[in-house]
Amino acid sequence: MNNFEFANPVKVVFGKGTIARLSALIPAGSRVLMVYGGGSIKKNGIYDQVTNALNGFEVTEFSGIEANPHYETCMKAVDVVKKKNIDFLLAVGGGSVIDATKFIAAAYYYEGEPWDILSKGGVIKKALPLGVVLTLSATGSEMNERSVISRAETREKLNFASPLVFPQFAILDPEVTYSLPARQVANGVVDSFIHVVEQYLTYPVNAKVQDAFSEGLMKVIYEEGLKVLDNPHDYDIRANLMWAATNALNVWIGQGVPQDWSSHRMGYALTAQFGLDHAQTLAILLPGVMTYMFKEKQVKLARMGEVVFGITGGTEEERARRTITACEDFFRRMGLKTRLSECGITENDLDALAAPVDRQGWHLGEHHNIDSKVTRDILLLRL
Ligand code: NZQ
Ligand code: ZN
Repeated sequence: MNNFEFANPVKVVFGKGTIARLSALIPAGSRVLMVYGGGSIKKNGIYDQVTNALNGFEVTEFSGIEANPHYETCMKAVDVVKKKNIDFLLAVGGGSVIDATKFIAAAYYYEGEPWDILSKGGVIKKALPLGVVLTLSATGSEMNERSVISRAETREKLNFASPLVFPQFAILDPEVTYSLPARQVANGVVDSFIHVVEQYLTYPVNAKVQDAFSEGLMKVIYEEGLKVLDNPHDYDIRANLMWAATNALNVWIGQGVPQDWSSHRMGYALTAQFGLDHAQTLAILLPGVMTYMFKEKQVKLARMGEVVFGITGGTEEERARRTITACEDFFRRMGLKTRLSECGITENDLDALAAPVDRQGWHLGEHHNIDSKVTRDILLLRL
């Protein structure tokens, strides 16, 4: 196991009816900016629950955060924060709203051009405090220090991380996910599953705790994920998926182990240039990374196959190959596509899709050996 330092300060409030706890979680007297998306919260009762719970606070609303949130929209919110003298941000939404809120929190104090936080690793010295009411379980953003923002003007999608944007609290009420469209439910299942994979599926470093937690999470997400679309109002399924998704990326299982976020990074361009949902990019790319990096990942692929999918018999190599097929089958059973050609992407598009790897100077994968040429080769495997 590698050395690590770990702290996660997010207070989680989990369960039915917990949105009512908001008033006790936000510091008294705060001037709150309530940040949300395109309006789903007004149709499913979440808006009413939140505004009732905020009774007594001075609240300003900022709506219209897009899926894959835009830098341009976040900067409009920063103006509102300044104008209204806001001192607490409340994100009510999924990963996009939470990520936007984290960026707003950091951009407000940033000296210089806030896009540099994303494109040049600009250092965040101060951020506004924020809290979260989660409406879609997928990204783990509610309990981590990461954020992914897109710039519509240049069709770029980039991420940043800072301990200063950990939410102060996250309210997780599984019942609010009942209203999600099937596509978003499936996206959440696949995204959270792949978060575990990208922290687990590298080479063994004898990290028994991390491996056992990761294998448990993948098994839960796989088993409950296959049930949820047919049982959308089953509280236990929703609760288990929600807590699994949070644990999949609260940066706990990744401590002390090598990680491989190449499918995520390569996927940004698929979203920025072709508008694919985040999870959709991963369902296409992960089997490609597993195949291309097969030798490096064989030991853990075989182990993952046995524990998660019950794959036994045959050689280690055979079991590892069957694990790749099992993952792709799982994503397809959830209703996602697994090929670029199914999304209208052709070989002519691959150079542009690989270009951000060079532009950002990324060396992806657990061995840092995925450059833009390898990225192109992996994309080619997924046509
Ligand atoms: O905008 P509204 O109208 O609210 O609709 C949203 C949105 O259209 C809808 N929705 C959310 N909760 C709902 C609901 N509809 C009905 N009922 C509810 N309870 O769902 C749509 C998708 O929402 P979004 O927040 O975009 O989805 P998700 O949570 O999957 O977030 C995706 C974003 O998170 C980033 C992705 O790159 C992408 O930009 N990620 C963030 C990470 C992080 N911060 O750690 C890690 C992830 O790997 C990921 O990259
Ligand atoms: Zn993800």
